[in-house]
Amino acid sequence: MSQRLDKVLGNLGYGSRREIKEWVRQRRVTVDGAIVTDPGQPVEPHRQTLAVDGAAVRYTLHLHLLLHKPAGVLTATADRRQSTVLDLLPMSWRRPGLHPVGRLDKDTEGLLLLTTDGELSHRLLTPKRHVDKEYYCRLNGPLAAEDMAAFAAGITLGSGEECRPAQLLPGPGQTEARVIIVEGMYHQVKRMFQALGREVLYLKRLRMGPLRLDPDLAPGVARELTRAEVDNLYVEAGLPTVP
Ligand code: URA
Repeated sequence: MSQRLDKVLGNLGYGSRREIKEWVRQRRVTVDGAIVTDPGQPVEPHRQTLAVDGAAVRYTLHLHLLLHKPAGVLTATADRRQSTVLDLLPMSWRRPGLHPVGRLDKDTEGLLLLTTDGELSHRLLTPKRHVDKEYYCRLNGPLAAEDMAAFAAGITLGSGEECRPAQLLPGPGQTEARVIIVEGMYHQVKRMFQALGREVLYLKRLRMGPLRLDPDLAPGVARELTRAEVDNLYVEAGLPTVP
C-alpha cells in the first residue's frame, strides 16, 4: 500500500513534516536512488528503498547501535552546551526513543550500546541480572596482590556503598588492568580504585555482557548490531529473541 513519503518518514521519527519538506527541497531524500522533489510523493515503504543523505531508511521495530564513545562527549540524549553521544550519529539513526544503555563518564571511552528498546535496556541495567561489564584501565601506580584480593572481596566505597565482588586482572603493563563489575554505580570503577588510594588515569569499556567493543570501530563511529549480537543480548536480558 502506498503512503505519502513525508508521512512515512515522519512516523519513523525522522523529523517533522516541515523538516522533511526542507530536506526534499535540499535534494537529500531518494526513493530507489532517484531524488525526490515532492514530499507528498506516494511510496511503498516495504518494497522501495528510501534514503536520507544516502543512508537507507530501516523499518525494523527496534534499532540497536554499538558506538565507540570517544572521550569528551556526554552520555546523554540532549544537552544545551555540550555535545552528546547522539550528536555523533547520522540523521538516519536519530529515531525517537533511541537512548544509551547506562552511562559512561565524559572522559571514559569505549563500548556504548544505544537502543530504542526500553525493556531491553532496563533488563541489562538492573543490578538483579548481574550483567557484567569489562573495562581496561591505566592507573597512577603499580598494582599489588592486595588490590586483587580487595576487588574479589567486595570494595566499600568512600560513600559507604558496598560493591559486589569484582575481578581485577592485572596487566599487560604494571599500571594496567582489566576490571569486571556486575553493577553500574556512579563513577564506580574510579571510586573502587579511589577506595584503595589509587587513581584511574584512563578508562575504556571493552564489553557489556556478551557484547564486545568492535576493534574495527574507530572512536566516534557507530554501527548497527549484527543479528547474532542482538540475539545474544536478548538472551542475556531474559527476553525472547525477535523472529
Ligand atoms: N566506572 C567509572 O568510574 N566511569 C565510567 O565511565 C564507567 C564505569
